[in-house]
Amino acid sequence: MEATRNLAKMQIAHLIKFAESFKGIEVHLYLNNKYVKLNYSDDQFIDILRKLQQKEVKEVFLHHEDCKKIMNRIEESMSAQTFYDPKTIDEQRVESTEAAMKVVKNLINQLGVDSETVKLLTTINGRAMSLLSESPTLHAFIKRFKKNCSEEFLRTILTSYLMSLVIDKFPWKSDPVKEKGALAAILCDMLLEKEDFPLIREWEKNGTELPERIRRHPLDIVAHLNLKRGIVPSETLTIIEQHHELPDGKGFPLGINSSRFNQLSCIFIITQQFIEQLFEANFDFDKRLDILNRLQKKYPTKNFERALDALITVVDR
Ligand SMILES: [Fe+2]
Repeated sequence: MEATRNLAKMQIAHLIKFAESFKGIEVHLYLNNKYVKLNYSDDQFIDILRKLQQKEVKEVFLHHEDCKKIMNRIEESMSAQTFYDPKTIDEQRVESTEAAMKVVKNLINQLGVDSETVKLLTTINGRAMSLLSESPTLHAFIKRFKKNCSEEFLRTILTSYLMSLVIDKFPWKSDPVKEKGALAAILCDMLLEKEDFPLIREWEKNGTELPERIRRHPLDIVAHLNLKRGIVPSETLTIIEQHHELPDGKGFPLGINSSRFNQLSCIFIITQQFIEQLFEANFDFDKRLDILNRLQKKYPTKNFERALDALITVVDR
């Protein structure tokens, strides 16, 4: 692909949700090995995006400075006043929360991270958590919103939510700790493609070989997020680095042993695994005890035991 220093790739499907006020944004397509600026008038921005979608175009390219405008628009749409506008139905709230999370993640991937984007991700996560807390059960939430969002997004926010309930069982619980865990849930797989996840599931089940790129993703993501030191909390980076490790030392990327896991990583791993296996079981909550038993066998060490005991008190009520 032609090298470009100031164009960022953006998915039309997500962009379209925040496009109303983006007059003057230049849209580029990548055609025949080069970037082509579209002819457009200020008023037709949305129409152009919709027409492109009809032609099966999934991505456009925008100038970096225009990406900043989009971030501002997302921030505005996530502000309490806009987000909780009574005219907005919950389905739209869930959809715009997913779009916001995906666009911001995509921009972090391409432009790097700064304190504003981290703050925005925390706000977006907070909105997702409030939507979840209004639902009578996790199962009811999934049943209601499954058609409005991707499974990947559901896994992320359910992990974040359940983890916050598990953290509440520890004396050191606090909102900042929950936010550090939530950031890890959002960012831990940001360099992976959709087709990588079944390979990881296969590795978890049968120990099949994984491509080096997938084995390295926790380290690569930490390196990317830590280019500007001090922006992403160190606890979040540790969770990301350890999220595929196992207490028997057979995990990746480093194969660390059980003494190296900190308590927050253990809570994250146990919660993420629980949600993962619940999805495998078609979210049949009656299977939760089987899942907890399997997790007890897979993570038999003291630090994981504490996390599991807390998870049991949350889900086995
Ligand atoms: Fe991962």
